[in-house]
Amino acid sequence: MFEVKTTAGASKAEIYLELTTQLTGLLSGETNGLANAANTAALLFAGLGEVNWAGFYFLRGGELVLGPFQGKVACVRLQLGRGVCGTAAQRRTTVVVTDVEKFPGHVACDHASRAEIVVPLIKAGKLIGVLDVDSPSLARFDATDAAGLEKVAQIFLQGSDVQYLAD
Ligand code: SME
Repeated sequence: MFEVKTTAGASKAEIYLELTTQLTGLLSGETNGLANAANTAALLFAGLGEVNWAGFYFLRGGELVLGPFQGKVACVRLQLGRGVCGTAAQRRTTVVVTDVEKFPGHVACDHASRAEIVVPLIKAGKLIGVLDVDSPSLARFDATDAAGLEKVAQIFLQGSDVQYLAD
C-alpha cells in the first residue's frame, strides 16, 4: 500500500524533493493518464499542506474541462484567457497569484481560496491542460512552488499517456 510520507518540519524545497520522489514511484509502471492524474492530485493534496484544492483541467473543444482533483466541487468549464487557469493556459507559463482577489477575472470556485498557482501542461509542444493548486492562505505560493509543481507536471506528463485527455 502506498503511503504519503509526512514532511513535518521540512523546508518547502525538501517537501517538493520528497513529493517528486514519491510521485515517480507512484506513477512507475502505469501510463494511464486519467489514473495518474487522479493519484497526482491526491498526492499533492495530502502532501503539500495549506491547500484546499489540487487538480487538473484538460483542454477539450477550446475550453478547459475539469479533470481529477481533490477538494470541494469545482467549476467544470473555464475559458482560455480568463481566470488564473485560462491565463496560464493561454500564456503557456506558470502563474502564481498571491491574492486571488487582486487577480482580474479570477474564477472563484471555493470562496475559501486566497492564493493560487497554475502550471500549464505541455507535451510535445501541445497544450494538454493545466495543473491547479489553491490555498486558503494569502501568498502561500512562490517561486519554489512554481519550480516544484513544474517538476511534478513534468513527471506526470513524461510517465502518462495524456493525448486522449485533450483534443
Ligand atoms: N480559480 C480558478 C478556477 C479553478 S478553481 O480554483 C478549482 C481560476 O481562476 O481559473
